[in-house]
Amino acid sequence: MRILMTGGTGLIGRRLCVALTARGDQITVLSRRPQQVAALCGSSVKAIASLKEYTEDVAFDAVINLAGEPIVDVRWTARRKQILLDSRVALTQTLVEKMRRAKHRPQILLSGSAIGYYGMHEDQILTEDVAAGQDFSAQLCAAWEQAALTAQDAGVRVVLLRTGLVMDEEGGLLKKMLLPFRLALGSRLGNGRQWMSWIHRQDYLRAVLTLLDDQTAQGAFNLTAPQPVTNTQFTQILASAVHRPAIFFAPTVLLKLALGERSDLLLSGQKVIPQALSERGFKFEFADLSAALRDLLK
Ligand SMILES: NC(=O)c1ccc[n+]([C@@H]2O[C@H](COP(=O)([O-])OP(=O)(O)OC[C@H]3O[C@@H](n4cnc5c(N)ncnc54)[C@H](OP(=O)(O)O)[C@@H]3O)[C@@H](O)[C@H]2O)c1
Repeated sequence: MRILMTGGTGLIGRRLCVALTARGDQITVLSRRPQQVAALCGSSVKAIASLKEYTEDVAFDAVINLAGEPIVDVRWTARRKQILLDSRVALTQTLVEKMRRAKHRPQILLSGSAIGYYGMHEDQILTEDVAAGQDFSAQLCAAWEQAALTAQDAGVRVVLLRTGLVMDEEGGLLKKMLLPFRLALGSRLGNGRQWMSWIHRQDYLRAVLTLLDDQTAQGAFNLTAPQPVTNTQFTQILASAVHRPAIFFAPTVLLKLALGERSDLLLSGQKVIPQALSERGFKFEFADLSAALRDLLK
């Protein structure tokens, strides 16, 4: 398949490029640093620097849309929120417009989203039919999804990847947590009762390839392992995986002071279940966090 990928140089995108190239797909990555694409994504991966290069004569069979400014790293000022929105929603709108105009229209758009879509919840089990939340990250995901769904009007199959915390030792949350945990400074966050819905990077890739190939798959899919954990459980399991104690806890008030509105991402959570994937018979290799972390940190 000829696939256009946005966000292909990111943590998830790089791994997807390798997996897709290995099975013979031809990948083109949209990147603001096109000269680095071959080194990051593989020597056979082509790069474009702007969607202006996606003219109506360029043919792709599928589009995978993952691009977006990092959510957690920078304080959410009004300006930052606009940047977060533009890098996802405006880019997706332009992308869909390009797909619509292409003489050879892609059949499928796999578009990024996150479990933040549901907003913050306590113990409620969240499946794909639960409505979007009201907080900023929920509204960001909802707008991102709406922009992708407009491709359906042009007959494109749209799959929304409501992604949980991707466990990858080379980036994202797990990499950030590894150093303090290895120094025995790992700590529970707040009261530790908030849910963390995670997925092993290998299961994430397997799920994406399944949804790409299965022509009957469309709509929202939770990409999370079937056994989410609380932050207390996560803390104990990660500490045990790196053979260190985790005796501290980070007080809520300090996290709120340090992170502002973003502290919600750490102090609240979602108990998400991959109902739509399970109904399709998708089998997770890593349903259990201990086994997942043992595999990633071996
Ligand atoms: N990792 C997770 O646990 C997780 C969980 C839920 C949802 N997600 C979402 O899934 C997507 C991929 O995740 P990731 O962890 O691979 O992200 P990542 O490592 O931060 O990569 C994101 C990519 O998006 C592109 N990008 C960033 N800012 C951009 C901008 N202003 N305009 C255009 N492109 C921009 C970058 O490509 P260039 O620098 O090459 O332009 C970058 O490689 C993200 O949208 C993320 O929010 C991730």
